[in-house]
Amino acid sequence: MLQQCHWLQSCVESLLILLYQKMHQKCKVENVKRYGGQVIWSEVTMQSRETVARKVQEDTGAVLIHPFNDGRIMSGQGTISLELLEQVPGIDTIVVPISGGGLISGITLAAKAINPSIRIFAAEPKGADDAAQSKVVGRIVTLSETNTIADGLRAFLGDKTWPVVRDLVDDVITVSDEEIIKAMQMFYEILKVAVEPSGAIGLAAVLSDQFKQSEAWKESNKVAIIVSGGNVDLAALWNSLGNNTSTP
Ligand SMILES: Cc1ncc(COP(=O)(O)O)c(C=O)c1O
Repeated sequence: MLQQCHWLQSCVESLLILLYQKMHQKCKVENVKRYGGQVIWSEVTMQSRETVARKVQEDTGAVLIHPFNDGRIMSGQGTISLELLEQVPGIDTIVVPISGGGLISGITLAAKAINPSIRIFAAEPKGADDAAQSKVVGRIVTLSETNTIADGLRAFLGDKTWPVVRDLVDDVITVSDEEIIKAMQMFYEILKVAVEPSGAIGLAAVLSDQFKQSEAWKESNKVAIIVSGGNVDLAALWNSLGNNTSTP
């Protein structure tokens, strides 16, 4: 979506500044710059991100559009459900990557407004499982450290996304980086689709033992998986595949 923002910016000639944490994938940042976006760096913590964002606003008068904790972003994400349920009737379960929860909040609100019995599962990396922990303890959990190949899924829930995740998301399925890499490999080898780790996690969740051993697995006849991003850093991909290829 970020690259589409920059494409839009190039059309309307307005200023668009993007804030990235230092560990973001090289290719994601390069693609943004290719469309003329200005990239400003923060450290790899939410606190640093928020401090830098405030400073940019003060210095430039820029308008902050939060990537997930914003009703406009959440409702925009809801259009995914509208299209999905219109184009593919009979879906009973949707599996969605989760980070700050904007994507899943919009999808959940729209899908459950159309069909309240639809099941929504969040897919989250084990190395950044704050949403799973939040659901267990009943409040927003933040982690001092995250460690996962899914670089887009390291944020924590916000005050607007948490109530939706708490009350309407049925469960969170957590998967290891190995499972994510295996799912990425399936996207490439079987579907011929370039998917980044954060985007492949939904497939990893559906193939996981946690899902297959759940009651929901038995009741799910038509499962939709949201595949949310294709910024693949090829060098990182080769490395991760090299460490995970099984020999016959
Ligand atoms: C590829 C990808 N998928 C899904 C998400 C999850 O988005 P959200 O923060 O709305 O949960 C992100 C977040 O940046 C992402 O980069």
